[in-house]
Amino acid sequence: MTSQLRIYVPDHPLIKHWLAVARDRDTPSVLFRSAMVELGRWLTYEASRSWLPVEETTVYTPLAETAATVIDPRVPTAIVPILRAGLALIEGAQSVMPLASIYHLGLVRDEETLEPSCYLNKLPDRFDAGTRILILEPMLATGGSIAAAMEAIVARGGDPASIRIISIVAAPPALQKLSQKYPQLNIYSAIIDEGVNEKGYIVPGLGDAGDRAFGT
Ligand code: URA
Repeated sequence: MTSQLRIYVPDHPLIKHWLAVARDRDTPSVLFRSAMVELGRWLTYEASRSWLPVEETTVYTPLAETAATVIDPRVPTAIVPILRAGLALIEGAQSVMPLASIYHLGLVRDEETLEPSCYLNKLPDRFDAGTRILILEPMLATGGSIAAAMEAIVARGGDPASIRIISIVAAPPALQKLSQKYPQLNIYSAIIDEGVNEKGYIVPGLGDAGDRAFGT
């Protein structure tokens, strides 16, 4: 059986609302950051469905013993924000996955070649087998940064079938690149836009997510 990359665009009013706020060019930085927190929260909530490991147990209510399902703390969970813009999604993602370890990965792309280079790598030497890894990359544009991030994570034992990517805006070039190399991946995005311009920006997109989040 061949698997195929799956991209989910959750049909949720809160996700649509916060996306509209983030897209609006008149949204000030402080509100843009709130939008990123909320989008990080609700997209992680959607991504965690039938992905976070659970175990069956019993609990005692004040009245009786009953069956219960809890998050299995033995299966490690990890969040990998791609700096800079991915930082803005951490707070929301962490509110859904409070036990996850955070491994920062700093990638910057050359404005002319659009090729990424890594300036910070806090990934572990090796991910434990089965680790659920959530990558935070708000803009899936040309796919250069996310491909570099995937390569670094997979080289350290990350299993593409256990990885989920959160993005705010995804564009066809990045999705094509990922689907060729990692057909087992699952991506959760607030929207898929038409394309990418000659400078590597998604159109209509939301502009430079890092600059807008950090007021630069
Ligand atoms: N990175 C951004 O911040 N915005 C884009 O549109 C593309 C890449």
